[in-house]
Amino acid sequence: MSITFTRLDPVGADRDALIDFMTRNDFPFHVRHHPQAADIEALISRGAYRDEDNDSFWIDHGELGRIGFLRLEDLSEGDPLFDLRLDAPFRGRGLGLQVLRAVAEHVFRTMPSVHRFEGQTREDNIAMRKTFLRSGWVKEAHYREGWPVDGGAPLASVAYSILRRDWESGTTTTFVWDDLVV
Ligand SMILES: CC(C)(COP(=O)(O)OP(=O)(O)OC[C@H]1O[C@@H](n2cnc3c(N)ncnc32)[C@H](O)[C@@H]1OP(=O)(O)O)[C@@H](O)C(=O)NCCC(=O)NCCS
Repeated sequence: MSITFTRLDPVGADRDALIDFMTRNDFPFHVRHHPQAADIEALISRGAYRDEDNDSFWIDHGELGRIGFLRLEDLSEGDPLFDLRLDAPFRGRGLGLQVLRAVAEHVFRTMPSVHRFEGQTREDNIAMRKTFLRSGWVKEAHYREGWPVDGGAPLASVAYSILRRDWESGTTTTFVWDDLVV
């Protein structure tokens, strides 16, 4: 079933729905697990959902309706990153795979200058890490203690990417991790 992305207006028509989405869901693998309305209002005010680096979308499913939120980040840098958050009722159903494939398709089709697309997640976000691997993304980094955890020891941040040429050919190329041995 088709996935589409509806660009949202964080300071106008979608402001209340965005605050509602972010505050009624838990995000156990994000730095802020349960944002408060004031947190989201501050992010909206500073352009975190739409400015030269960021753009945000609702994720719409052909049968299920609105199932989540997507933000593209670092858009002025050339190699965008993303933040993907399914609404709680739509997690744990394998929809992330379909969505991530559609996100890569959206980025490569609408941004011709982008040749690599990146994503990072916390090491214990197994659902997201499996979704990356099943979508043909390649693990490129394991930033040890790179993810701050409130009240706990930092965890690793794991980085994945997909190249335009792999997306176009439907293959997954990799690289030699230990290319230099001393
Ligand atoms: C992360 C997210 C996109 C994953 O999408 P999803 O459709 O919910 O993924 P699923 O829960 O179906 O999990 C995918 C696979 O990982 C497996 N999995 C999930 N948690 C697991 C765990 N703790 N241990 C082992 N396997 C696990 C699932 O069983 C599934 O495999 P299967 O299809 O073989 O059963 C979604 O859960 C989400 O939006 N979560 C909240 C926000 C978030 O963490 N976003 C990531 C930021 S980059």
